[in-house]
Amino acid sequence: MLDGKKVLFSGMQSTGNLTLGNYLGALKNWVSLTDEYECFYCVVDEHSITVRQDPAVLRKRARALLILYIAAGIDPEKACLYYQSHVPAHAELAWILDCYTYMGEMSRMTQFKDKSAKHADNINVGLFAYPVLMASDILLYQTDIVPVGIDQLQHLEICRDIALRFNNIYGNVFTIPEAYVGKVGAKIMSLQDPSKKMSKSDENPNASIYLMDDKDTIIRKFKRAVTDSEAHIAYSDSQPGVKNLIDIYSACTGRTSDDIVKEFDGRGYGELKEAAGECVAGLLSPIQVRCAELTKEKDYIDGIIKRNAEKASYTAEKTLRKVQHKIGFPDRIR
Ligand code: TYM
Repeated sequence: MLDGKKVLFSGMQSTGNLTLGNYLGALKNWVSLTDEYECFYCVVDEHSITVRQDPAVLRKRARALLILYIAAGIDPEKACLYYQSHVPAHAELAWILDCYTYMGEMSRMTQFKDKSAKHADNINVGLFAYPVLMASDILLYQTDIVPVGIDQLQHLEICRDIALRFNNIYGNVFTIPEAYVGKVGAKIMSLQDPSKKMSKSDENPNASIYLMDDKDTIIRKFKRAVTDSEAHIAYSDSQPGVKNLIDIYSACTGRTSDDIVKEFDGRGYGELKEAAGECVAGLLSPIQVRCAELTKEKDYIDGIIKRNAEKASYTAEKTLRKVQHKIGFPDRIR
């Protein structure tokens, strides 16, 4: 609890172009949860360097992501929006928790397996220990809930395991966080291969809707979306492409899948694709406009970055000091 409210923490990597999956699976829920919780929304730039980055591009993308959080509707006066690299406690706690995490646990992580297959020439220690940094992000704020898409649940499970292990040795140091997964949109699939999640690192640009895609591009990508030859609109695992289109349409409109299936009964895939495309374009367009406006407001954004780094550091350091004391590091002399 912080100021009488439960705490929410979540973050996104400032790597690549964010996709509709990031928006529907995470960002959209963040916006709706901001009033109810004390929220920390982090741009996790330290996580991004597990894969080689161009420094200038990384810096630019980190700022663009923070701006996107605001453009998507998060009120920076209510929620703490900040860069992970501005709060040293994240990396400090990660080192400590590394010493309470087993190699076997980390090597089972699917994201590690996937990424190390993809970047076989750079399987670095950071990539391996990535979930421990993520656990530190969450545990530093005594977080109650963590809104994420389904692909992050395994990391959240390991975060809970690490926290419980630590608490068992040292007493109640960490709050044990719960995942929050939205009812719809928690796993948006690729438009070109609906057996894979939509991902910013997909090499085929038609597989993902990027949040900065213009309307024509969005409509074109939906038109090309892979479906099947059943020629019948149903919400079923045997029709993953159609199911994905319904999920997207449902997450954008708030309507149920049953309702959508009824609406499109007897109609063709082309009509569903068009409706989904129009709806996504309508949702993203105001966010894009706001991003462009906010990008010009340099002082306003700089103010948010500075203030929030201080606010986040204050909360994070309280937990860090407690942890350092518990494990036997010498207390600071005041
Ligand atoms: P990242 O940056 O890959 O993704 C950010 C958020 O978007 C969700 N997401 C999706 N949801 C639905 N469908 C998809 N196709 C899809 N693709 C991505 C992710 O589940 C995530 O919620 N390790 C994290 C970042 C992180 C973090 C944290 C998250 C670092 N520390 C602490 C929560 C708490 C990651 O790489 O997310």
